[in-house]
Amino acid sequence: MSYAPPRALWASRLGFILAAAGSAVGLGNIWKFPYITGQNGGGAFVLVYLVCIAVVGLPIMMAELMIGRHTRKDAVGAFIHLEGKRSFWQAPGWISVAAAFIICSYYSVVAGWTLDYLYRALLGSFSGQSAENIEGLFGGLTADGPRQLLWHFLFMSLCLGIVIGGVQKGIERWSKILMPILLALLALLFMNGLLSPGAWEGITFLFRPDFTKLTPAAVLEAMGHAFFTLSLGMAAMITYGSYLSKQEDLLGASLRVVVLDTVIALMAGIAIFSVVFSVGMEPAAGPGLVFKTIPVVFSQLPGGFVLAILFFLLLAFAALTSNISLLEASVAYLIDERGWSRPRATWFLAGLAFVVGIPTALSYNTLAEWKVIGDRVFFDSVDMLVSNYFLPFSGLFISIYVGWFWSGTEEKQELIAGGAGWVYPTWHFLIRYVSPLAVAVVLFFKMKETGLFAWFAALLQ
Ligand code: PHE
Repeated sequence: MSYAPPRALWASRLGFILAAAGSAVGLGNIWKFPYITGQNGGGAFVLVYLVCIAVVGLPIMMAELMIGRHTRKDAVGAFIHLEGKRSFWQAPGWISVAAAFIICSYYSVVAGWTLDYLYRALLGSFSGQSAENIEGLFGGLTADGPRQLLWHFLFMSLCLGIVIGGVQKGIERWSKILMPILLALLALLFMNGLLSPGAWEGITFLFRPDFTKLTPAAVLEAMGHAFFTLSLGMAAMITYGSYLSKQEDLLGASLRVVVLDTVIALMAGIAIFSVVFSVGMEPAAGPGLVFKTIPVVFSQLPGGFVLAILFFLLLAFAALTSNISLLEASVAYLIDERGWSRPRATWFLAGLAFVVGIPTALSYNTLAEWKVIGDRVFFDSVDMLVSNYFLPFSGLFISIYVGWFWSGTEEKQELIAGGAGWVYPTWHFLIRYVSPLAVAVVLFFKMKETGLFAWFAALLQ
């Protein structure tokens, strides 16, 4: 018999909240949320998004934390522990660990771009340049395979260095260092935004409700984003929940994480759009917003040299705390299910994620002609597959499982005992009916939109 050390737990509640919020707050908040809000009707979209967070995101986050805490296992092990080796319910465990690993591989490439921009900001390469030159830098970077590989390598090494330290001495310790800095950076940029001449225009752009832009597609987008931004469906919250003390008030802890995530996204939106309008630029969509528009804006603002450094540091920290949760979710699998030591599991998976990320980094240069799914390059194909299918599928299975099949009595008792009288029935209703239905609808439309049905139909003919 091998000696099994007692499972590591978070040293404090604050440590858990910062680590989980670190996972949730990422590129999704600072880069994606602002521009999809701008595109989809401002305030009207924000309203729908908040509803999605409350009725789908929060209940599923609680369900994932409950599964983790109850079983004290990685996501695959959790379902095996609950339902046995032969059970169908292993599927969500496998899908989410696979999703975590795959996202880890390409998230690191994008995070590498933020390091590249941080480096340029530190060198002052944006100042005194024409807008055209600055915007051209992004195309130059994506066209440069080796440069991206170098940053990807560096970023993955940072994640490795943190995760190898373990739950308390690695993830928790670094979350406690990085998250307060992240909040301080964001607060500075937020204040700067509010004090800039474009503040009002930025705020109205972000919040004025335009219900004509609130199409069904926008509602789907809000749902999908609620999932991604809370790191749901990808084993991260199950794994982090598995280190959570049984004494912890689950609703309170989840609420804090969700509120932090949402407030940070809204603050980032205001910080970004206020300065964009201050220099009279149009907010771009997609990667262009942070990697093209923002550097141009900062090159034209007084103090822009410092602001650019702060901004890309913020982005890099947000990406780092997210990516360590992805790496940890897959590392926990090798430790718990395969009995590997933490150093071995971390070296192996960080190395493998680096290798799998290579074609992502080469997607817009050497491998640009390699169309994997439809006319999508490698990067877009894996992203499409994972965000549109893996995450919603595992979310769907998890909510059905917890809502309909899992007795989880002691976890459910804790909710009943720990909250006001309405907490448990409300959560149970949401996880049983509302979340599965909402996720199923999103999945259905995503399948239609991405041509999966057509692809199947063609296969069958
Ligand atoms: N939640 C992160 C974001 O908003 C992304 C992420 C996905 C993090 C999956 C961890 C796991 O950017």
